[in-house]
Formats: sequence, structure tokens, C-alpha cells
Amino acid sequence: MESLRIYTEKPYQLRGQVTISGAKNAVLPALAATLLTSGEIALSNIPLVKDVQTMLTLLSELGAEYELKKKSLRIRVEKIASERAPYQLVRAMRASILVLGPLLARKGKAAVALPGGCAIGTRPVDLHINGLQKLGADIKIEHGYILAKAKKLKGAEFEFEKKTVTGTENLVMAAALARGETILKNCALEPEVSSLCELLVKMGAKIEGIGEETIRIRGVEELGPAAFRIIPDRIEAGTFMVAAALTQGDLIINEVEPAHLGALIDKLMISGARIEKISKRSLRVIGSQEIKPQDVTTAPYPGFPTDMQAQFMVLMTQADGTSIITETIFDRRFAHANELIRLGASIEIQGDKAIIRGRTPLSGAEVMATDLRASASLVLAGLVASGQTTINDIEHLDRGYEKIEDKLIKLGVKIERLKNNNNHRAGDKK
Ligand code: EPZ
Repeated sequence: MESLRIYTEKPYQLRGQVTISGAKNAVLPALAATLLTSGEIALSNIPLVKDVQTMLTLLSELGAEYELKKKSLRIRVEKIASERAPYQLVRAMRASILVLGPLLARKGKAAVALPGGCAIGTRPVDLHINGLQKLGADIKIEHGYILAKAKKLKGAEFEFEKKTVTGTENLVMAAALARGETILKNCALEPEVSSLCELLVKMGAKIEGIGEETIRIRGVEELGPAAFRIIPDRIEAGTFMVAAALTQGDLIINEVEPAHLGALIDKLMISGARIEKISKRSLRVIGSQEIKPQDVTTAPYPGFPTDMQAQFMVLMTQADGTSIITETIFDRRFAHANELIRLGASIEIQGDKAIIRGRTPLSGAEVMATDLRASASLVLAGLVASGQTTINDIEHLDRGYEKIEDKLIKLGVKIERLKNNNNHRAGDKK
């Protein structure tokens, strides 16, 4: 297990520039889409995060050959060597469910371990399964595996009971090779869904309604090679924007799509931060001395992203007054609150609401990362918690943030990664 230790003699004021990496939640479906063709797919701006390595390991087991050079990947699945996504890989990364649709579409069968729940909630995949059954797949659950088969998927009309990002992505990929037309309703509108559709169109898919709630896909016989650049990670960008507001800093954030961050930008500006658009893909965030409390409710895109909830909660601990954050997407996504309380925050959880009473001075402590975005919130808190903050189990953080400590060091933060065998320096009491 590894830890990150942040030394904060006095609260940091982040100043300088930071460049955002490619989006984890865009590269994962793009990688799954490579199963749909025997052609070579070239992806650039790949984020070097743990989940990418996990997905590449899974794809190799399924028959992919690839070459990753710096942030560019060339990958080809000449033929599907196996249709089994084993439990230990799916358990490591729920997004493995994204191979289900492509395997069914290309190979006509799939055995994908049920992802199970995780730290932020129960995470069912019933909508993925219902949608694929509507396209004619015969699916049963046995011994913890989704066993699916379909001689040839047939186009159909399917409406999602609720918005699901990977559910929409799975169905679009399956429909791309189905016979006839598929109409998907109540689709997720996240930029990562639109980006996947754009890649599929480059591969030869026939898709209309990209970025809308109703997507029409006319199945084709086969898909071909393509080259594609992964979009910037709007959640990493949002994390650094909150860091600038939290530390009353002045940060220029490069490689960002401002259009993907509307809801967060609104909330940050109302809380007092100044946000200027420097260019098409750069923003400047200037934090203010006084941070105004905000009520925030997470919602599917373009609403306030659930993946920014934990980070925004840290900002609200430094606001002058009481804020209420309502988490509507996941049923257990407040684990970071307990850790923030250990740093001195005043937070009360009532069902799907977190009541944050600010401003509370934070003091450094040893804390535990529980999930990806919770880990990011603890790093943010460490920037303003006086003294030393050690965040344990940062494997969670490494899943979705590319070398976050290097980016923070460039912004003047004293932060180091510890292998847990020397987490206790000489002289510390054991
Ligand atoms: C994607 O997860 C993201 N992951 C998550 O990011 C993100 O938090 C989430 O969308 C919401 O924006 C990837 O894109 C790889 P959902 P996903 O299906 O697709 C319920 C991160 O930190 N639901 O949109 O798994 C579900 O329980 C991760 O990067 C069903 O009920 O989320 C939730 O309440 C965490 N049945 C809601 O829908 C289903 O079949 C939205 O989930 C599917 C989902």
C-alpha cells in the first residue's frame, strides 16, 4: 500500500499552470470499442492511470495486441481469443462491464463477472442487461457471471429507466453491429458518451443524435480502423479548479473543455472564485478570500457531477456559513466526510444530504482513501490542513489521476509518495 504525505506549514496558495490529462472515463469505453473491429485503432492523449492498465490487461486476455508509447496507443483485436472477463479483473475495475456489449456484438457471446458494489454504492447493471436483452441477447446470471449469447443482435427501441453512462455506452457499442436500426431513449448526456459515439462514427458506425437523449444507430456489417484523441478529463480539471478556489490561488488550467464544466463553473463563481476563459482550451481560476456557502445537488450531465461532490465538499468546509450537498446518483458516496471530520471539518450526514458548517480550520492527520474521488478530496484538504497530512491507500487515487503529486509539486506543494514500509520515519513512535 502506498501513501501520499503533504507538508503544510501554512495553507498553500496554488499559483502557476497545470495541464490536464486525457479523461479516464473517455478512454475506458474507447478501449472497449476496439473489440468491435479487426482493424487497428490509434488512440492519443491516453492518461497513464491504473484503470487504463487494468483495461489493457483485460483486452489482452480477450485477444488484443497493443503498443503503448508515452501517451499514444496502437491496439488491434484481430480476433476475439476469449469472451471471458474474469472476476479478479472486473472486481478491480467496474468499467470492465463495458466489454459486454462489444463481445456480444463481435463474437456473439460473453461471460463477464458481475461487477458487484463498491465503496460508493451498490452499482447494479440491470439496465445494461435489459437493454442487451431487448437487442435479442439471451442473458442469464450464474455463479456471479453474466452469461450472454446472441447469434446476431437485432436493432430495437429501448428506453433507459434512468440515465446510465456506461449503460448507454454498452448499448451504443452493441447496436453498432446489430442488424437494423436501434433507437435508444433517455441516454446519458455525458461528454464521454458523445466522445465514444464520435470514435464509433470514425470506425464506420452510423449514429445520429450524438449528445442528445435519443440516439439512433443503424447497424453495419463491420467496423474498421480509426485514429482518435481522448478528450480532456473534466473531473481532473474540476479538481484543480476547486484547488485554486480552496487555496485562494491563481491557477491556469490547460487542456480543458470549459463547455464540459458549466455546472461546476457556475457554483465556483457563486462561491466567490473568478474564472476567466483564457483560450478555447484554457481557464484561469482565481480564488477569493471569502468563500460563500452553497447548496449543491448532484445530477446527471449537464447537472453538477457526482464525481465532483467530494472535492466541492472540501471547499464548503472553508465557506463562511452552512452548505448542504445532496447526492442523488449513488447511495453511499459520503465516505470522505468521516475523514474530513478527522481533519477538523464539521459535517453531518442525514440520508442523501451532507450538512457542512464552515469555516472550520483544518489540521493535518493520517486519513484513509476509500474511493477515487474521496482520495482527491483528501489531497485537497491536505493543502489547507496545517501540519502534515498522510493519505493512506492511494491506489484508489492512482486509478484516475495521472501523477497528481508531480503536478502539485510543480505548483509549489511539498508532497511525497511513501511506500508503506517507510511510512513511519525513523524517530516516529511505532
Ligand atoms: C460512470 O459510472 C462513471 N464511470 C462514474 O465515474 C460516474 O460517477 C458515473 O458514471 C455517474 O456519472 C465511468 O464512466 C467508467 P451510471 P457508471 O451507470 O456508468 C444506477 C469515477 O469516479 N444504475 O451512470 O457505472 C447507478 O446505481 C467513476 O470516475 C442502475 O440502477 O454510473 C447509479 O445510481 C465513479 N442500473 C446511476 O444509475 C444500471 O444498470 C448512475 O450510474 C446502471 C446504473
